[in-house]
Amino acid sequence: MNADILNLMVFGLAALTVAVTGLLTMVQLELGPLSRLGGHRRWLLAAALGSGVLAFALKLLIIVAVANFPQFVIDPFIEKVALPLQPTATTPPPGPPRYRWMALPESSAVANSPPRAPLRYSWQALPAQAPAPAHNPTTAAKAALGERLFFDADLSRDGTVSCASCHDLYAKAGADARPGASGIDGQVGTRNAPTVWNAAFQSRLFWDGRAASLEQQAVGPLLNPLEMGMPSAAAVEARVRGKPDYVAAFALSFGASAPITLARIAEAIAAYERTLITPDTPYDRFVRGDLAALAPAQLRGMALFQSTGCIHCHFGPNFSAASVFDDRVPLRAFPVGATPYVQRYDLVGDTGAAPAGNDRGVWRVPSLRNVALTGPWLHNGAVSELAEVVRIMAGAQLGRSGRHLVWSGRDRSLSTLEQAALSEQEVSDIVAFLQALSSDRLTRTAGR
Ligand code: HEC
Ligand code: HEC
Repeated sequence: MNADILNLMVFGLAALTVAVTGLLTMVQLELGPLSRLGGHRRWLLAAALGSGVLAFALKLLIIVAVANFPQFVIDPFIEKVALPLQPTATTPPPGPPRYRWMALPESSAVANSPPRAPLRYSWQALPAQAPAPAHNPTTAAKAALGERLFFDADLSRDGTVSCASCHDLYAKAGADARPGASGIDGQVGTRNAPTVWNAAFQSRLFWDGRAASLEQQAVGPLLNPLEMGMPSAAAVEARVRGKPDYVAAFALSFGASAPITLARIAEAIAAYERTLITPDTPYDRFVRGDLAALAPAQLRGMALFQSTGCIHCHFGPNFSAASVFDDRVPLRAFPVGATPYVQRYDLVGDTGAAPAGNDRGVWRVPSLRNVALTGPWLHNGAVSELAEVVRIMAGAQLGRSGRHLVWSGRDRSLSTLEQAALSEQEVSDIVAFLQALSSDRLTRTAGR
């Protein structure tokens, strides 16, 4: 018991004893003889007066107690009264759902930890270095050579386009911010340029996953008539051999006797790309132990990313099923389920790696790192709002949709609309989480 209350009670008891004794003495010696009451009547008088004094003392005691210890005395009563007034379970509180956020201890002392989500999943940070194949180890000299080649527009037919034209590393986070890529002669391709950042962690490259390595991939754009348009491997090699400082850099990277070939050009570019990685994100800091790195909305989004099933396809350190860490099912159908988004964004005009005649596409699962910085999105760059991509994914890939009939007055068409069963709050939480996958550095240079 609180020491103050104990003191008060002892003091009160003493005061009461003094008061009762005084009262008895007064009745016995003064009031009794004066009123000429005899024997037990005196006691009755004493009791009557005494109870008055007692009631007065009790009142004083309550006043003193309430004035001095309001928390102790009043709180229990307030709580009991207020309880039935609280909202019942049927009236949800307004605003975003509030989750209590707690960190699990890392030690074995988790016996009474809260029940885990039904689906167990280990979140992983990006390694600080990208793995390289044995035949093309990443060296500083080779990466420096690759960097020069990456920015060299002379490697295109008319000298106007370099890799960096479509993969603007800093201002556009390694992509080009256009729906379709724009190559030589102003030709516009049908596919969106993905970022080259963290491509080093992808086991399959291109939207349809047709290249199995960065070395193999780099040859593609050089010879693609829509992109850099060089007529042949020999033509690319001749351009590089024509520059003396390239000759010296190749000797430094591959040995003096190694001739300049398209394969080595691609190896140097690939070595450079393996240095283009972004472990500097709020998400990675969080997974490495900085529990304050994510905002509440991002934490809610992270939990939803897991519980709604995005992790079935976008998993591991690079948020992709086509990763160097796990390449078991790199390609997935998209869109899996029928949704009106298919018409709205022409999602099956190009069916990627699907066999000819298929009515839906098959695509490599893309990484989601820096995805908030690399819009517009999807293989055709048709979607320019990240929240809409999340709705499409939830509906088309996870069946999170409700069916609605939609009448369009403009062209008088009636269609069914699969509306996102994820609430707008959930969609925006997932978007907040995707933003946590953006590199701090690229957010500064490309942040929009
Ligand atoms: C004209 C624009 C353009 C140029 C120039 C260009 N690219 Fe690309 N890049 C693209 C497009 C578009 C894609 C996707 C094509 C596809 O999936 O079919 C792509 C895909 C890639 C990918 C695959 C990324 C992934 O996640 O799958 C890498 C890596 C890449 N390019 C590197 C390069 C390099 C290296 C060069 C220079 C040798 C280069 N690009 C030149 C437009 C371009
Ligand atoms: C069944 C596998 C699968 C699931 C589940 C899935 N995705 Fe995807 N996701 C893909 C594929 C495949 C693509 C590439 C689609 C295309 O453009 O062709 C993609 C593309 C994306 C993109 C666009 C990437 C870009 O650079 O344009 C985002 C963002 C995305 N997914 C987020 C999510 C979110 C959030 C969820 C959970 C709500 C999710 N995905 C669930 C397979 C999946």
